[in-house]
Amino acid sequence: MRIIQITDTHLSPAKTHFNGNWRPLAEWIEAQQPDLVIHTGDLALDGADIENDLVFSMQLMTELRFPLLIVPGNHDVGHMPGSAQPMNAERLQRWRRLVGPDEWVHDTKNWRFIGINSLTLGSNPEAELQQFDWSKNALAGAGTRRIAMFAHKPLFVDEPNEGDTGYWSVRPSARQHLRDLIAAHDVALFASGHLHRAWIGKLGSTKLAWAPAAAFIVGPMERDMPGERIVGAMVHTLGDDVHTEIVQIKGMTPFLLDDVMDEVYPRAKPAVDKAVS
Ligand SMILES: [Fe+2]
Ligand SMILES: [Fe+2]
Repeated sequence: MRIIQITDTHLSPAKTHFNGNWRPLAEWIEAQQPDLVIHTGDLALDGADIENDLVFSMQLMTELRFPLLIVPGNHDVGHMPGSAQPMNAERLQRWRRLVGPDEWVHDTKNWRFIGINSLTLGSNPEAELQQFDWSKNALAGAGTRRIAMFAHKPLFVDEPNEGDTGYWSVRPSARQHLRDLIAAHDVALFASGHLHRAWIGKLGSTKLAWAPAAAFIVGPMERDMPGERIVGAMVHTLGDDVHTEIVQIKGMTPFLLDDVMDEVYPRAKPAVDKAVS
């Protein structure tokens, strides 16, 4: 079974800076004939506030003639409490109405795919607990199937036991909880986006995969991190094991966010945490 993972398309009908990468990406996906496409969030440029960004993004997604599952990113449903766009009921409802569920389970004969809304982790204790209960049930229900999990945020950035990375990853307490669940259920793959970096690693017996963004790379405006600064997609081939490949796609342009930050995400500038990804 072959899955194409795409992520961080940051699409918008008004701010068209990154839309040009959609056509070559969609054509490459068509040529690949995957069994399933999974989008790991930041579907829209500003779906957290602008309904049309989500509507437009979903219109483009309908061009894909393959089953498609999507988990939300921070630019789709908002981010942490205290940020300029905290995730809240209104934003979540908008996502569910225009895109679909923010967490899901998809089964094949041999595999269970679980998508989680990683923005819930660190949002509020009650929602976080609900998310873990839901994940626990989803994991426990896999039966004899192997499990692959998909989320917008990675488990960690530099190393598994690091402290709070703020904007970039899951908070340490939630990370530990998630790690315990992943280990207890022998999850084969945990795949994410958000960092706009491409990287493949391992945590215990779980493969970790950061898919390259489709929209842009981030230059010196942000601190350095592991992974390649490229745009493209990822292919996961699932058999007895997981084979993962980072793919750079002809015709896609590695737009540099640093060059257009003021136009694309102007309000993020005065925030304490300047990161936008
Ligand atoms: Fe993100
Ligand atoms: Fe992003």
